[in-house]
Parts: sequence; structure tokens; C-alpha cells
Amino acid sequence: MKKKLALLLVAGMTMASLAGCGGSDAAPADAAPAEEAPAEEEAPAEEATPEEDAAAEEAPAEEAAAPAADGELIRVGFAQVGHESDWRAANTQNYQDTFSEANGYELSFVDADNDNAVQLEAVRTFIQQEMDYICIAPIETAGWDTVLQEAQDAGIPVLIVDRSVDADASLYETQIGCDMVAEGEMAGNWLAEYLDGADANILVIEGSVGASATLGRTEGFNNIAGQHSEWTILDSQSGDFTQAGGQEVMESFIKSYSDFNVVVCQNDNEAYGAMDAMDAAGITYGVDGDVIIISFDATHDGLQYTLDGKINCNVECNPLQADFAAEVIQKLQAGEAIDAQTVVVDQAFVAPGIESQYATTMTQEVLDGRAY
Ligand code: AHR
Repeated sequence: MKKKLALLLVAGMTMASLAGCGGSDAAPADAAPAEEAPAEEEAPAEEATPEEDAAAEEAPAEEAAAPAADGELIRVGFAQVGHESDWRAANTQNYQDTFSEANGYELSFVDADNDNAVQLEAVRTFIQQEMDYICIAPIETAGWDTVLQEAQDAGIPVLIVDRSVDADASLYETQIGCDMVAEGEMAGNWLAEYLDGADANILVIEGSVGASATLGRTEGFNNIAGQHSEWTILDSQSGDFTQAGGQEVMESFIKSYSDFNVVVCQNDNEAYGAMDAMDAAGITYGVDGDVIIISFDATHDGLQYTLDGKINCNVECNPLQADFAAEVIQKLQAGEAIDAQTVVVDQAFVAPGIESQYATTMTQEVLDGRAY
């Protein structure tokens, strides 16, 4: 399907929509680090479904051919961050399941392996290939104006997904993702409630440098830390959202600091690495230990550690976002207005024995219901 809709797309919407995040049927993530995703996949075309044909009839004839109205698949290029975490593996699987041939799509998937140059090149390749739509999960917020302008000049609508960019919003159709600042504030508010005025000497293992997930969680947590003179942030270093990175940073922290009682890990994989480092150093953590651990993502294994009392508080970042992207594309196909932003709503979870106004106390039932 060619990009004949591009000039008809509705731009400049300002309403943000709140999208709840329920469960899904996606398979749970494995305990092991995420496996390497395929470098690039392309699927052949297939027949239109009855639903797609029906949708095609509703769309204005010369404005927008609805999904597969002419028997062709909607071609979507997805420039994914990489495969650094269990969260990322779940997010990739969710896109591959949603943008399937059976659903009327031909998905071209590129795993950029956390390399900005590779990701930019992937987007340029999608432009050359005249994709109908391009989804970008940006590694970093910066550096997107030129290539987004190129996509717009080529008439290809771009969806910014998961993370955000600092480019002019007129260069892309919409942004879909979690509110990372709110996640950081949730973590901070929970800690304040838990400590109830006690001193905190805090170490932060940040995510990848320049990523909106890192910037937002840091900003949000610091917003709350700034309200607590009894808190000291001793240090804050990037663990690159990986287990190895989390372990390395924690090992270095342990050499430099002996008086910490809180470790904030900006994703679950970093928390696994930090726990390994503390185990090796004989440092206890969790509800029965000396160090409070806060994590982000709330993937299945992260929540297992929370249920086990090893992670005190785990703030969710829901990776199941592809349905929202598909909904935007379907609306654009039909020539309908779209929201400029979709915020995927998160919640927090705490270990058994902890009661919180900011978080749900973990149970086996909650864990069993976890879809990723
Ligand atoms: O952008 C989402 C973040 O990226 C997740 O928290 C992290 O696990 C991932 O790598």
C-alpha cells in the first residue's frame, strides 16, 4: 500500500488521551536477559480481512484507502531501541504480534541495538522503501529533526512510541508511551511514605544516557527528593538499562560508599544486577535487609522479586503499547482525527507486608495475572 494518505492526515491535535493498561495474552518474560531480536523481518502481502474491507468502505474514497482495501497489507517500519531488557523483549513481541499479516500489516522490524546511528539509518531505509507508516522508539530524545523532516517530505506519517523526542511536534503524528516523570514521582512518593521522615542516603542506577525514560524518571524522583531535606542522593550513574550495567555500577558504588540505605534502579534488569553485586558483597536488601530497593518496569520477574520481598517497590512501565499504535494507524487510514499523545497509565507494586496509598501490595494472584 502506498502512502497516499499522507497529505490528508490530521495534524496538530492537542488532546491527550489516557489509556488504561490491562493484561494481555503475551507470554511472560524469561528470567534470563532478553534474547537478541532478529535484525530485520519482512512479511509478504496477503488478502484483506472482511473487517478491513468494511473499514475501507467507511473511508472517503479519494482520501484514504482503509486497511488492505486493495488487497495489500499496510507496510509499517518499526525502528526499535534494541534488546537491552526484559521490558524491551515484551514490547517487541507485542508489536510483532499486533502488526501481523493476519491483522493486515507487513511489519519491517529493525533492532538498533541501542545505537543512534543504526536507528537513524533504519528510519532512512524505511523512507526509501516507501513505508506507509514508520514507528520509532527513540533511543535518545535528541537528534531527530532532520530525519523526521525527511519522512514528512516523503509523505510518510511517523509515530513516536515508548519514549519521546525533543523535536518539533509538527514533524510527527503522535506520541504513545508511559509518563516517565510520573513514574519517577510515584517512586519518590512511595519512598517518602515508607521512610516516614527517616534519613535516606540514596544511590541511583540510571537508565541509558539521553533516553526520555531516564530523563523522566530522574526528574520525577528528584522532584520528590527536593521536598525532603533528610534525603541525600549520594551518586547517580548510568547502568544502560542492562543487568550487566546495573551490576557494574553497583559494584563501583559499593567500593565508594558504605553508608547507603536506598538503591533506585531505573529498570528491573539493572535491579537484578545490583542485587547480584550486593549479594557478592554481603549486603542485605529488601524488606528484611539493610537497603531499600526501588525498581521500574514491573515485568514478571521483577514482580516475582517484589513478591519475594527482595525489591521493596516496583513502578510499572507497561510495554504492551502496540494496540494504541495500531488504533492510531487505523484512524489515519480512515481519515479520522487522532490524539497528539496517548499516555499509557502505570501503577506501582510493593512487597508483602507493605501498605501504601501509592502502590498495590503484591500477591501471588497479581503475579499470576502478569502478562509480560
Ligand atoms: O523506555 C522504556 C525503558 O526502556 C524500560 O524501562 C527499560 O527496561 C527499557 O529498556
